[in-house]
Amino acid sequence: MTGSQLRLRRAGLRDVDYLLELQVDPDIAPFLSAGRAASREELVEEVERSLVDPQAFGRLMIETPHEREWRLVGAIGFERTNKRSRIARIGGLAVHPDFRGHGLGKAAVRELARVLFGELGYHRLEAGVYGFNERGMAAIENAGFVREGVKRLAYRPADEWVDAVEFGLLADEL
Ligand SMILES: CC(C)(COP(=O)(O)OP(=O)(O)OC[C@H]1O[C@@H](n2cnc3c(N)ncnc32)[C@H](O)[C@@H]1OP(=O)(O)O)[C@@H](O)C(=O)NCCC(=O)NCCS
Repeated sequence: MTGSQLRLRRAGLRDVDYLLELQVDPDIAPFLSAGRAASREELVEEVERSLVDPQAFGRLMIETPHEREWRLVGAIGFERTNKRSRIARIGGLAVHPDFRGHGLGKAAVRELARVLFGELGYHRLEAGVYGFNERGMAAIENAGFVREGVKRLAYRPADEWVDAVEFGLLADEL
């Protein structure tokens, strides 16, 4: 999967350490789903699932060109949530703090959407973002997702209940 400025590469077991590092970064962890795979064992399980069932589940590494090589800058994922209606949910988006503010979050979401619609035949993509996560919402919206609603005080990632903002994108909207 390659866009002009970045590529998405399916994660392998050698990427688990990097995924773990991202998960615990204090500038990433509070913004990711509190129910995500967090331990090494859970991440290994997800990476293996992504390798054996690539149409339905993905753990992908975001890479950008750097001195003729590809440099890791983050991660993104998806999961099929409805087979009959061909719906997938995007999640686990993280750009390492060193590489933020250059449109990579937006570009990674767009590239994943291109692959999910164009190559894997999905019809609709969904994403949920905590209501306090302005950067996350900006990246998703800039990628073309439409704000579809708010799940009021749906989750408690830390001490307080917070809203989740739901976004959707249809194949012909990309
Ligand atoms: C969300 C994240 C992936 C964005 O990565 P990125 O490469 O910086 O994304 P982009 O450069 O494409 O877009 C960031 C947008 O946030 C905006 N932004 C940055 N800080 C902001 C803030 N404090 N308040 C509001 N918007 C902000 C930027 O201006 C930019 O929007 P613009 O291009 O319209 O100006 C990255 O910040 C991250 O990993 N965050 C932690 C994990 C996370 O939140 N994941 C998303 C869960 S859905």
